[in-house]
Amino acid sequence: MAATLRIGVIGAGRIGVLHARNLATRLPGVRLEAISDVVAASAEKCAKDLGVASALTDHRRILERKDIDAVVICSSTDTHARLIGEAAEAGKHVFCEKPIDHDLAKIDDALAKVARAGVKLQVGFNRRFDPSFSRVRDLVAGGSVGKPHLLRITSRDPSPPPIAYVKVSGGIFLDMTIHDFDMARFQMGCEVTELYAAGGVLVDPEIGKAGDLDTAVITLRFENGAIGTIDNSRKSVFGYDQRLEVFGSGGMAEAANAFPNTVTLSNGKSVARDLPLNFFLDRYAESYVREMEAFIACVRDGKEPPVSGRDGRVPVVMGRAARLSAEKNRPVKLSEIG
Ligand SMILES: NC(=O)c1ccc[n+]([C@@H]2O[C@H](COP(=O)([O-])OP(=O)(O)OC[C@H]3O[C@@H](n4cnc5c(N)ncnc54)[C@H](O)[C@@H]3O)[C@@H](O)[C@H]2O)c1
Repeated sequence: MAATLRIGVIGAGRIGVLHARNLATRLPGVRLEAISDVVAASAEKCAKDLGVASALTDHRRILERKDIDAVVICSSTDTHARLIGEAAEAGKHVFCEKPIDHDLAKIDDALAKVARAGVKLQVGFNRRFDPSFSRVRDLVAGGSVGKPHLLRITSRDPSPPPIAYVKVSGGIFLDMTIHDFDMARFQMGCEVTELYAAGGVLVDPEIGKAGDLDTAVITLRFENGAIGTIDNSRKSVFGYDQRLEVFGSGGMAEAANAFPNTVTLSNGKSVARDLPLNFFLDRYAESYVREMEAFIACVRDGKEPPVSGRDGRVPVVMGRAARLSAEKNRPVKLSEIG
């Protein structure tokens, strides 16, 4: 491998442009060689904005290039498993956005191809790399809260996605809670064995008509005996609400919302501040840089990526278990799903 890692990005939508920009402007030791998108104008605009030489409509033109070491897959979810397989068979290391797929058989097929090819695969559960959430994990892993007893994750979006997206999203548990399922495993350092999901449609009846939920609480039982809760809403009027807490025998670690500034206005009526950073591109901006730094380091040093293919698979199992639990109104063991 050359001293500079050469990378291609597949998919130049919202998250693809963000990763491409980080690769082109914020990450040393890498060169963004090519960008592909089935929509030519998207690839061309992204490449032009970032000064990237090659804009393509066919990702296979990236995979056949011998001088490209790794690809970053940012295309729509239904393409991920296939593209991971193709990239692995072409000998490329792979960073792939979450989720790998909603179908466990497709995930297993992609992971088998990665294993056969012996390439690295990192899945884009970026929140692990958020400076506050990773600090909580370090404290918990280092024993600072004693034996963990309770985990509490609050994860509420500022507003729901368009109904057209809701219909193809796989549902709230696979689209939104999937990040929180990953966070739960990450913080506790062990697996969930059973969960119970209660869901409702309280934000927008159209979401219910599309067959989905917009409000949910999921109770988790961990293999170490600890208990966790995740609460989700598709609409938080005060902005993106992203907090977590781990409580244990020796104390508690908690991460609060992130704000654009630290100013408070105090007067005779209230003590007030500006709303939290509005959505994921702002709130988790640093995490996207840090996850890519970790991927690049693993490829360069031959180490295992910190978010593995298995880490990509388990939250999909949890999402399917949550859907079943909400439908049947009963606890579901993850072993029921596979
Ligand atoms: N980790 C995160 O925080 C995060 C945030 C947003 C999205 N995502 C994930 O990233 C993926 C993309 O989401 P988005 O919001 O950027 O969607 P988007 O619709 O904005 O972008 C997807 C892009 O992929 C392109 N595309 C589709 N098929 C392709 C193919 N075969 N080859 C090349 N390009 C192709 C589309 O034309 C589009 O430009 C989804 O899987 C989503 O779940 C992750």
